[in-house]
Amino acid sequence: MKLILLGCGAVNLSLLEILLARRTELSVRYGLQPKIAAVVDSRGAAMSPDGLDIKELIRVKKSKGSVAQTTPSGRADVNALDVISEVDADMVVEAIPTNLRTGEPSLSYVKRALEAGRNVVTANKGPLALTADLLPSLANKRGLFFRFSGAVGGGTPILDLAARCSLGDRIVGFQGVFNGTTNYILSELEAGLSFEAALRAAKERGYAEADPLIDIRGLDSASKLVILSNAVFGTRMKLKNVKVKGIRGVTKAKVANAAAKGRVIRLIGSGGIAPAVAPQEIPRESPLAVNSAMNAVTFELERSGSITISGKGAGGKETAGALLRDILTIHAKLGGFYPARDETAPRVATVV
Ligand SMILES: NC(=O)c1ccc[n+]([C@@H]2O[C@H](COP(=O)([O-])OP(=O)(O)OC[C@H]3O[C@@H](n4cnc5c(N)ncnc54)[C@H](OP(=O)(O)O)[C@@H]3O)[C@@H](O)[C@H]2O)c1
Repeated sequence: MKLILLGCGAVNLSLLEILLARRTELSVRYGLQPKIAAVVDSRGAAMSPDGLDIKELIRVKKSKGSVAQTTPSGRADVNALDVISEVDADMVVEAIPTNLRTGEPSLSYVKRALEAGRNVVTANKGPLALTADLLPSLANKRGLFFRFSGAVGGGTPILDLAARCSLGDRIVGFQGVFNGTTNYILSELEAGLSFEAALRAAKERGYAEADPLIDIRGLDSASKLVILSNAVFGTRMKLKNVKVKGIRGVTKAKVANAAAKGRVIRLIGSGGIAPAVAPQEIPRESPLAVNSAMNAVTFELERSGSITISGKGAGGKETAGALLRDILTIHAKLGGFYPARDETAPRVATVV
């Protein structure tokens, strides 16, 4: 399978490392022998119809800053649109920065990829949250696969769980903590830090978005709520349809007041008829009362009651794992195998 990678930052660089570390296992167990036909970053691309040397790509990106510096396959005079149109590939794996105002440029890249007949895997919430079912519909019309499990919950398979639950039951509603940065800040307020100190700590730990207002105002949570709602309920909701209130008004005093009642404040996204994101007081023993940068979602099922999934909501390595899940799922639909062909086949330890 030939892949084009758009972006070579925390997520896609980790994906390259995983593909290298698990090369044998992926081939033996799943029949996946990925060839990296091109990788694009903000300064150019590396391209080879026979597949790039992954180890060399990683070395060049880490040491020289851009894949365009790879010799002889690097080019500084091309961009993602050129590469999508010109390079032969089965799939485009998109992990460039999110834009929650216009979705660009990734929206145009994904559209171009689908129009060019490429299957697409993305971790980018912007285009999905802003355009409802535009991209899934475009993929459907063209008989292509489009998956985005890394866009909600990083490596935690929230969308995958929802899809499995929906097979045998009906999800009637869900509530969740969708943003690690705000959850970290709220947890630190509980520990006695001021809002500013907690935000600083979140930035130092690399949790916050480049523009932390996206987290604090609740827009990141709302975009994930939209994506999950559309996937679960088949709606065509957009970010603008969500009533959003962020955590700026949550003070140390409010958190302490909740704690005195055995409760915590969490930024909760609620899916259903009136989708909303807002800080809520919930019991400390609620499964949604996760700490630090964790995410959690509780699905209400018609027959089975509630099911909660929780885990790290972000992280380059973790999200790269979600991309790989999607790649393997599409690979299986295109003739590869998943679950593994032979459960007794050797498992290669994954240390990335
Ligand atoms: N990191 C996470 O924990 C996480 C979790 C879930 C979802 N996501 C989503 O995954 C995506 C990638 O995240 P990340 O953390 O890997 O971001 P990142 O570290 O900032 O990397 C972004 C990459 O995209 C490249 N890029 C920027 N503009 C480009 C353009 N116009 N054309 C081609 N490449 C371009 C950058 O190039 P340079 O290297 O030259 O700067 C960089 O390689 C985002 O949409 C993010 O929201 C991330």
